Amino acid sequence: MNNLAHQSLAAYDEAKQQASEQTEAFWETIASQFEWHQKWDKTLEYDFHKPEVKWFLGGKVNITENCLDRHLITQPDQTAIIFEPNDPKEAAQHISYKELHSRVCQVANMLKSNGAKKGDRICLYMPMVPELAITVLACARIGAIHSVVFAGFSAAALAARINDADCSLLVTADGGFRGAKVTPLKDIADDALTHCSTIKTSIVLKRTGQEVAWNDIDVWWHEALEEVDDNCPAEIMDSEDPLFILYTSGSTGKPKGMVHTCGGYMVYTAYSFQNVFQYKKGDIYWCTADIGWITGHSYIVYGPLAVGATTLMFEGVPSYPTYDRFWEVCAKHKVNQFYTAPTAIRALQKYPVNLVNKHDLSSLKVLGSVGEPINAEAWHWYDDHVGKNKCPIVDTWWQTETGGILITSLAGVTSQKPTYATLPMPGIQAVLLDQEGNELAGENEGILAIKHPWPSIARTIWGDHERYKNVYFSAYPGYYFPGDGALRDAKGNYRITGRVDDVVIVSGHNLGTAPIENALNEHPNVVESAVVGFSHDVKGNALHAFVIVRSRADENETIKNELRALVAKTIGPIAKPDRIQVVSGLPKTRSGKIMRRILRKLAAGEHDQLGDISTLLNPEVVEEIKRNS
Ligand code: PRX
Repeated sequence: MNNLAHQSLAAYDEAKQQASEQTEAFWETIASQFEWHQKWDKTLEYDFHKPEVKWFLGGKVNITENCLDRHLITQPDQTAIIFEPNDPKEAAQHISYKELHSRVCQVANMLKSNGAKKGDRICLYMPMVPELAITVLACARIGAIHSVVFAGFSAAALAARINDADCSLLVTADGGFRGAKVTPLKDIADDALTHCSTIKTSIVLKRTGQEVAWNDIDVWWHEALEEVDDNCPAEIMDSEDPLFILYTSGSTGKPKGMVHTCGGYMVYTAYSFQNVFQYKKGDIYWCTADIGWITGHSYIVYGPLAVGATTLMFEGVPSYPTYDRFWEVCAKHKVNQFYTAPTAIRALQKYPVNLVNKHDLSSLKVLGSVGEPINAEAWHWYDDHVGKNKCPIVDTWWQTETGGILITSLAGVTSQKPTYATLPMPGIQAVLLDQEGNELAGENEGILAIKHPWPSIARTIWGDHERYKNVYFSAYPGYYFPGDGALRDAKGNYRITGRVDDVVIVSGHNLGTAPIENALNEHPNVVESAVVGFSHDVKGNALHAFVIVRSRADENETIKNELRALVAKTIGPIAKPDRIQVVSGLPKTRSGKIMRRILRKLAAGEHDQLGDISTLLNPEVVEEIKRNS
């Protein structure tokens, strides 16, 4: 696999040149290092106007043979997964490639014996335990499409995702440990299933041992597992068959089920993992994300396992039992590459630096950041105290939709620049556009867009190709439009400046404001609402909700608490607004469009930067909001 790696600047420059001049030949060379049942007969077919993207057409493959079987020959006893439980007193687990292969095959057979087959959608609503990674791989083994729903989502959000994809099977757990809390996953899933008619069986893993209600469709994981063996040949998949669906929020109420396919996703996640983190055989790599998000899919499970890495899975939170848990785990397992989110760094940097310094972090070689822009203060704290100024920091820009990292430095190979994601990966043609869609040259600021497909671009939105076209390919025809703004320095380094649409990144979680507004509007006393982001020193951004209530008599703490609870119930606790402000109106244009730009300024306290408000339908509400903020 090391032929995937560019380990010097010269090798990187050469790869970059080849990837830009002969893009298809470049990806063919990378792809040919994987095991295919049948080689592809065409490398790429695409049309961003349709839009349609297909990679390695006609190729036959199973990603789990690349993540598991082929390592059985070269390194069966190598640890594939290290599991660090929520409770530090519970023993960590080391799962070898041989054991992981066997357990994945067994679970694959368990899924089959419960009716699952190729093409079926299977929903996973599970805590961060090895069984989650194993179930993900087991789905891929049999060609079933996994849809992992983050275990912090509410029953309503889970039901919406199950129904959108018509999932036939659910895999969940009795509960999940997260810090001092226990999440009653089975109760939440039961609640969700009262709104779902397609689920035939629900397999329940015992994790917390708490009491749970039992229904006809429920099957205990440990009992079902006893019925099956670990012999499960991999289903042969077409390169373009769906591998998984993962939901991300968008600017309408309905979440978007991004569809990733087998061949291209495998090639790009492995290639990018290897190069960005400069992983060396035997290294211990830890990504702190949850498998409920794309980072966990691509850089806890598939990318690392495809290159035969040792990947650490952590069940808990950085603050439990104390605020040095991350550093304690790094020291305990001698972590070499550590990949986390700026929001975690900002939260931890508030505590005495002795909490970092008391742990031996000398094993660390590479640090990574993902999910939101990293501010200079957090970057330097990370560099000084965690990396001791000797670990390169890779600031990796990408999205659920891109499947893998698109803009980043390669650790120790290319130059880093604080707060800059830096350069597009080989084969990634990033550009900056102005509002009219003209490409901007040189040092500049504009809208980030990508000109040419890469293997792991999402192929569609499940059940709604038209929306895929509208959201990503219509604003700037001929380009993929990610929804972010960026600036570029004279050397071509990119710095991501934030979203240019109605998505707000809160603590690294991508939240569309529309679904939150829909939830608020469900309250019987709410007439209308608008949610915007404002800058927050730990979360990066937090949410400010402007709410019109039916009667001013309703303006009290009770309604605010009810609204927060409603958002938690409809979406999940992560989407609760930090601020709820009752207003008598929302600033609107004469055509009735809410002026979010003005609301964003008001939420930021930038009262003197509102611009001309005289053309608004109702300028007086702006004055009122200012007075009451
Ligand atoms: O706004 C960008 C931000 O996160 C968005 C994607 O969110 P999601 O699909 O949930 O995936 C997060 C993990 C890949 C992007 O559109 N974002 C992600 N990484 C960075 C970032 N913003 C700035 N710098 C980053 N490194």
